[in-house]
Amino acid sequence: MKKQIENRADIEVLVHAFYTKIRADKEIGSYFNTMIKDWDTHLEKLTDFWETNLFAVKKYKGNPQEVHNEVDAHFGGKITSNEFGIWLNHWFQTIDEHFEGENADTLKRRARKMSTFLYLSVFEHRKKN
Ligand code: HEM
Repeated sequence: MKKQIENRADIEVLVHAFYTKIRADKEIGSYFNTMIKDWDTHLEKLTDFWETNLFAVKKYKGNPQEVHNEVDAHFGGKITSNEFGIWLNHWFQTIDEHFEGENADTLKRRARKMSTFLYLSVFEHRKKN
């Protein structure tokens, strides 16, 4: 049996394993490797983000919508559903490799919802420019 996602330490394991896959991905790795200069800070921030999302601890205070609009603009409006799909498949696969249970399912569902929202927001933002 695999572990349940119970605390920040579990989320840290998930986030680190996930970004190892992302950074090595031939299609989308370069977006991250180009923009993220300080990986320790990024991994800490994303651990805060998912901990806040799952356990309502109020650690993350950023604005992912704004950040992804900037990422898309930085790459000249080239981010498509393909990039979001690859991101999500890595997320699901990493969760399944390490964890199971209700919180694991919740993190898959939340990322799926958020990916749609972020992607459509990027589209909307392009029209304004
Ligand atoms: C599919 C769902 C996704 C979720 C839930 C997600 C979530 C996040 C979050 C929470 C951050 C931190 C925002 C902050 O700085 O406060 C972030 C940063 C970032 N995301 Fe995503 N992301 C997703 C998809 C993508 C995709 C598809 C790409 C590009 C192909 C991408 C590229 C980036 C980059 C480059 C950063 C760092 C930006 C910077 O620090 O300069 N993300 N993401």
